[in-house]
Amino acid sequence: MLIVLPLLLLCYGVGNIQCSTVHENRQDFQSLLKFKQGITDPKGALSNWTINTHFCRWNGVDCTLTRPWRVMELNLSGMGLVGQVSSSIGNLTFLAALDLSNNSFTGPLPILHSLQHLVIFYVNNNQLQGAIPDTLTNSSTLAYVDLSVNLLVGSIPRSISSLSRLSYLNLKTNQLEGSIPDGIANLSNTLTYLLLGGNSFVGTIPSSIGSLTKLERLELQNNNLKVLG
Ligand SMILES: *[C@@H]1O[C@H](CO)[C@@H](O)[C@H](O)[C@H]1NC(C)=O
Ligand SMILES: *[C@@H]1O[C@H](CO)[C@@H](O)[C@H](O)[C@H]1NC(C)=O
Ligand SMILES: *[C@@H]1O[C@H](CO)[C@@H](O)[C@H](O)[C@H]1NC(C)=O
Ligand SMILES: *[C@@H]1O[C@H](CO)[C@@H](O)[C@H](O)[C@H]1NC(C)=O
Ligand SMILES: *[C@@H]1O[C@H](CO)[C@@H](O)[C@H](O)[C@H]1NC(C)=O
Ligand SMILES: *[C@@H]1O[C@H](CO)[C@@H](O)[C@H](O)[C@H]1NC(C)=O
Repeated sequence: MLIVLPLLLLCYGVGNIQCSTVHENRQDFQSLLKFKQGITDPKGALSNWTINTHFCRWNGVDCTLTRPWRVMELNLSGMGLVGQVSSSIGNLTFLAALDLSNNSFTGPLPILHSLQHLVIFYVNNNQLQGAIPDTLTNSSTLAYVDLSVNLLVGSIPRSISSLSRLSYLNLKTNQLEGSIPDGIANLSNTLTYLLLGGNSFVGTIPSSIGSLTKLERLELQNNNLKVLG
């Protein structure tokens, strides 16, 4: 007791996450566990995702630096993970960066509800199926979106034009169709990368693309697009 007490006081005073195994934030803890339960992990990348370790110290997880220690970043890129991405991720309400790229995730994109701090959303190089949900654009802070090299179908949600901070949009190498929404012109102050090659987009290349003054890179090849004039 004489030894433990000063240690406890030290830990309490510092408010250090290293000292804590108490999962103060049940919501983030449960959301991550539910995500883990939905997948298989052949390489054991998530082997320290255990109840005895605070979730802020789990592999791939980064939290806010102060209480209440909420998950800010989840980066599981290239960890060999297999299976469906649980929409429980959408309950990590402090999440700013989600990188699930380069795994073997299948099934639909997770429904993120409306994560109000999400800036980075990378799920490229997986085998994700289905359409891009309209609700993705509810996360109005999104700036970097990479859905490339998946099996996504359907069209680009018109609501994409409401992502007023969108800078990087990579949808290359999917099975997307329909036309490129005219509303993309509304992103003229922010959009620097627009990568849409290797899909089945149709129609004419909207003249509104010309008004994207910040654009540094545009890739439209390997679609069924027509150039006007
Ligand atoms: C969990 O695993 C990661 C990667 O191996 C490592 O960086 C991290 O320190 C581990 N956490 C704990 C608490 O051991
Ligand atoms: C995720 O981690 C990988 C290295 O493991 C790194 O290359 C990548 O930039 C990280 N993603 C983000 C969004 O920081
Ligand atoms: C994908 O992850 C594997 C390890 O799982 C790695 O060897 C490879 O370089 C990564 N590829 C990309 C494009 O990041
Ligand atoms: C998100 O959290 C709510 C409230 O805690 C819970 O009812 C719901 O099932 C969670 N959603 C998912 C997909 O886990
Ligand atoms: C997305 O936002 C709309 C309003 O813009 C709202 O009606 C809808 O419930 C939101 N969806 C989700 C899943 O949060
Ligand atoms: C684009 O912005 C204009 C003016 O801000 C607005 O009236 C219009 O509805 C927007 N278009 C789309 C498709 O969001």
